[in-house]
Amino acid sequence: APKRRINRVNLTRRHLLAGSGAVLAASALPRASRAAPVSLEARTARVQLTPETYPATEVWGYDGRSPGPELRLRQDERLQRRLVNRLAQPTTIHWHGIRIANAMDGVPGLTQQAVPPGQSFDYDFVLPDAGTYWYHAHQASAEQVARGLSGPLIVEEAEAPEVDHDLALMLDDWRIDPATGQIADDFGNLHDLSHAGRYGNLVTTNGAFDFARDLRPNDRLRLRLINAANARIFELGLSGLEGWVVALDGMPLPAPRPLTEALVLAPAQRADLIVDVTAKAGETAWLARAERDGAVGQARFPVAGTGTKPRRDAPAPLPPNPRMEVTGLADARSISFRMEGGAMGRMQAAVLDGKRQSFRDLMQAGQFWAFNGVVGRTETPLVTAARGETLRLPIVNDTAFPHAMHLHGHHFREVRSDGTLGPMRDTLLVMSGETREIAFVADNPGDWLFHCHMLSHAAAGMTTWLRVT
Ligand code: C2O
Ligand code: CU
Repeated sequence: APKRRINRVNLTRRHLLAGSGAVLAASALPRASRAAPVSLEARTARVQLTPETYPATEVWGYDGRSPGPELRLRQDERLQRRLVNRLAQPTTIHWHGIRIANAMDGVPGLTQQAVPPGQSFDYDFVLPDAGTYWYHAHQASAEQVARGLSGPLIVEEAEAPEVDHDLALMLDDWRIDPATGQIADDFGNLHDLSHAGRYGNLVTTNGAFDFARDLRPNDRLRLRLINAANARIFELGLSGLEGWVVALDGMPLPAPRPLTEALVLAPAQRADLIVDVTAKAGETAWLARAERDGAVGQARFPVAGTGTKPRRDAPAPLPPNPRMEVTGLADARSISFRMEGGAMGRMQAAVLDGKRQSFRDLMQAGQFWAFNGVVGRTETPLVTAARGETLRLPIVNDTAFPHAMHLHGHHFREVRSDGTLGPMRDTLLVMSGETREIAFVADNPGDWLFHCHMLSHAAAGMTTWLRVT
């Protein structure tokens, strides 16, 4: 218990340093408060994303910031937030990776109506799993997320590992018009829709191109990495730091995995790392990312002072989350799932709005991709599962591009070709030409999206859904 209290003090101090009074106020609310929920306002804001030779950039953010405020609660707590829409267009919030009640999932036209400008919607749900999650707009998300509507959602374990700093780092990728310093307004760009998605020209960590944080020798950190980019796949590594992956997409690994090779983080994926400072005072440690011509800094950690602790032993695994096992694989129903289309693909035609159309006609409609020959979300689900049924989906990527497939409301495991199961995830990166099978227990009733998280792809056809009755 004394350990936990120390943790709390650190967190409070960190929030104060970050100036996030709103987060403190929210967590200080009594759990069963009958007062109006704390609001989360979607509105425009000006943020200094770029070097100061450029003006501040107008973004769409939550509570005037992008990333939005860090929402940090305990496992099994209830999150209550009133989305207030101060934008000029409708919006919703999706709570990515949470095994949530369907009505709270934030998908317009499937689980709720989009919230019109000037109106609000109360989100209210329990957080069954500890881990690193995020929240983002789910209306016109290729534009709204690219403009900044996302933020970290952290669910703390009852017994969290002891660290000196617990840092959520949202990695993002912005397309900035170099003439104005503003977000490029080309959301209908056919090249993005049909190729790798909307890549940017400015990569940030927590909204800063030059994110830095001071550390001491031997400090231990928990880094909660979140890829909030529309399309960029990050390949990350450490310098002056020794690290272990302890969780992926919020879910603890049974054994921490030493980070010896690049960590690949596709859009919407998360990784929790435990990281020890090995750099000496006066040196700089880095979280770095691979670029075509070598590694560049993603987050800078100047090391100074004297460490108060000796180097620690390798971290223990995080406590597992409840009720998560994939069982019944042998008698599971298998649903074939083929991704087709895009530039340099071989899709000739597909069904859009109930009609078979040529690739050329689909292009005219700004649609480029299909799942099982069908473009975009249809009236009927891809599959209807009985609650508790185990489903298997061998995902065939018959396109020239990678795709990050995200399932709402559930986590799945990969069934590897040797029959072993991969880690629990909610988003799987499937490279061009690959077949990767996932399996999950459809135990959460409702209507759930299954889509590519390269958001331009989702907008251009890579969206379907399934129903759990
Ligand atoms: Cu994070 Cu449907 O998405
Ligand atoms: Cu895709």
